[in-house]
Amino acid sequence: MKIIIDNEENIARRAAQRYVELLREKPDAILGGATGSTPLGLYAELARLCKAGEISFARARSFNLDEYVGLDGSHDQSYRYFMNENLFKHIDIDLANTRVPDGINTAIAAEYDREIEAAGGIDLQLLGIGVDGHIGFNEPGTPWDSVTHVVELTENTREVNSRFFASLDEVPTHAVTMGIKTVMNARSIILMAIGKSKAEIVRAFIQGPVTTEVPASILQLHPAVEVYLDPEAAALL
Ligand code: PGA
Repeated sequence: MKIIIDNEENIARRAAQRYVELLREKPDAILGGATGSTPLGLYAELARLCKAGEISFARARSFNLDEYVGLDGSHDQSYRYFMNENLFKHIDIDLANTRVPDGINTAIAAEYDREIEAAGGIDLQLLGIGVDGHIGFNEPGTPWDSVTHVVELTENTREVNSRFFASLDEVPTHAVTMGIKTVMNARSIILMAIGKSKAEIVRAFIQGPVTTEVPASILQLHPAVEVYLDPEAAALL
């Protein structure tokens, strides 16, 4: 696991360079997308680089980590909407080549893994981390061999995410998420964490035991993970 500690602006810039390198080498790379506050700086930098002609997503494809159950892509809190607004609209990717798990027809969740495999597998998966150690919506206790599946969100995760909704009641109770195995199948992974609220869990997943109680701790066993941290998130390492 490679750990990069720098200020928020620089980690966004440095992570973006990984995309520049990957897409130069493999213009039709398969990217794994993430939502949340953490990737916003990276996405803004990718948009800037794309406008400047330094990177092109024209032949790339993407698969996002997760989606709320019950929200379709037109809902402004759906992760499809988030990706369109915060990244896809601002880069040259073909929207037809972007996938987000289906939050309405959840019966087809496991199909997602087959689609990823048929596309050739994910070259670079982006991850944030929840304060409870979740990656995607894989909450503590999720089995290591899980593939894309429906999960019931914990009260803690719903509360943390309620900041984007009018009230806690409006936060969906379930989500569909890539499983731990889906994530671990990616050829390389970037995890980003920013701010002091993440310091404790950052220490736990990097330096603590590999345990399903800290889903991100499985990344210790992946051969190609880079962790980008600001000094606050790295404070307890
Ligand atoms: P955040 O979410 O980037 O908004 O902190 C991360 C996560 O819950 O995975």
